[in-house]
This record gives sequence, C-alpha cells and structure tokens, in this order.
Amino acid sequence: MLDGMADRLARAARNPRRAGGAVFTRLQAQRWLGLEPPEFKALARDLLCTGQIEGWRYRQDLCLLYLLAREIPGPGVTLEIGSFKGLATTALAYGVRHGGHERVHTVDPHTGDRQDLEAHGAAVGSSEAAFRRNLETAGIAAEVTAYVMKSDELAPDWPGLPIRVLFVDGWHGYDAVTADLANFVPHLTPDGVVLIDDYLNYDEVKAAVDDATGLLPTHVVRAGRMRLAYPGRLPEPVQRFLRIPWG
Ligand SMILES: C[S@@+](CC[C@H](N)C(=O)[O-])C[C@H]1O[C@@H](n2cnc3c(N)ncnc32)[C@H](O)[C@@H]1O
Repeated sequence: MLDGMADRLARAARNPRRAGGAVFTRLQAQRWLGLEPPEFKALARDLLCTGQIEGWRYRQDLCLLYLLAREIPGPGVTLEIGSFKGLATTALAYGVRHGGHERVHTVDPHTGDRQDLEAHGAAVGSSEAAFRRNLETAGIAAEVTAYVMKSDELAPDWPGLPIRVLFVDGWHGYDAVTADLANFVPHLTPDGVVLIDDYLNYDEVKAAVDDATGLLPTHVVRAGRMRLAYPGRLPEPVQRFLRIPWG
C-alpha cells in the first residue's frame, strides 16, 4: 500500500496540474462551489449520474456539455460525433431544451469504441438498441436526430445546417479526428464552439487537434481531459465552470 502511495505521489510531483485535476474530479468542486445550475443538479440526481445510462463521463464533463448546449448563443444545431449509449446526448439535449435552442444531431455506426474494440476485439456488440432505449427513457427521443453511420459518411450529406456546438467523440484516431474537424468545423456559427474528447487520453487525438489549430476557433483551452475551442468570449457560467480543473 505504501508502495502504491509512493507511486501516486511521484506521479503527482511529475504532473501537479493533472494531480490537482484528479483531486478536484473526486471532490466535484464545481458542484459544491455552486457552479452547476439547479436544473443540471436535478438532471444529474435523477438520470445522468445514476448509472442508468452507461458511459465514461465524469459529472463535470456532463455539466460542461449541458452548459455549452444551453449557454452558447445564437442559432444553430448541436452535433455529437459518437453517440454510444446516449449519455452525453442526454446532457446536450437537456441543455438545448432548457436554453430554447435548435435540436441535437448525433452520428454513430454503433460498431464500438476504439478502446473497447482494442480490448475485446469483435466481441463488442452494437450500442444502437441501448442508445434508442435510453433516449426514450430520458424523454428526449423526439428532440434528437440520430444517424447510424460513420461521421465521414454523414459529412457529404450534411444538410448545411450551421453548428452551434460540435462535440467530437467518435473514432479516436489521427485521420478520423482530422477528418471530423475538417468536415464539420467549417459549419460552425460565428459564436460556435468545438469540444474534442480524449485529448489527454490518446496521443493521436492530441496530434490531430494540435495540427488543426489553424482551422479551429481562436481560443483553445483545457476542459477536463478534453479541449474546447471557441471564437470570442465564453458565456460567464461556462467561463466560471472551466476555472477549476478536473479529469
Ligand atoms: C467514446 S464513445 C462515445 C461516447 C458518447 N459521446 C458519450 O459521451 O456518451 C465513441 C463512439 O464512437 C463511435 N464511432 C466509432 N467510429 C465512428 C465513426 N467513424 N464515426 C462516428 N462514430 C464512431 C463508436 O461506435 C462509439 O460508440
């Protein structure tokens, strides 16, 4: 046990910001500092953080998705790349509903996450049935447009809808993330933002995002283990939420 503790301390000393993030993640600092809107707290208590919908999200990730979907101004849809079983879709759809914005679109061939496939090979089954069931249970099925295909198959048929919030969480490879950004960032509205998942988890995602800097909105900041790119000033509730690290 002391060995494990020594390892953890050594890791923390090498990367104090990440260690700080891990502590804040556990403490759920944003929650106790009143940075979560009451509507999100209720959603977290009743649905998002109950384990009813399978997923890999920290509570802070879900709150940020909710806040972006609710607070980013202007017209435009929200597009999620990589729906899986609908956990982030649900946070986004409730944010859109509470902010009175245009609907959520989400795309996934439902053939499996890279991490899962690499760990279990072809044994991973389709997530589509659970995804559709979860959207029904969450009461958002009618507010979400779901495409069962790969994001690069959707791109040529994207109906030109301006995108207010883009969440990139599909195939975590260099070419796939590069293509997702190249295909959909040009559709962002003037105030539109892009959130890219797993920047700190996959070197290929990090490289793709770093190489796309010229394409992304001007400001790129850390958001947990993700990266958020935005053009001007973020809405105050989002800014305050991001001041505390997590993930
Ligand atoms: C990490 S999961 C998404 C999790 C979901 N965004 C959430 O937070 O609840 C990644 C998903 O990307 C999907 N995926 C794999 N290749 C894809 C592609 N080319 N286009 C879109 N989605 C893809 C997988 O089937 C998997 O369900």
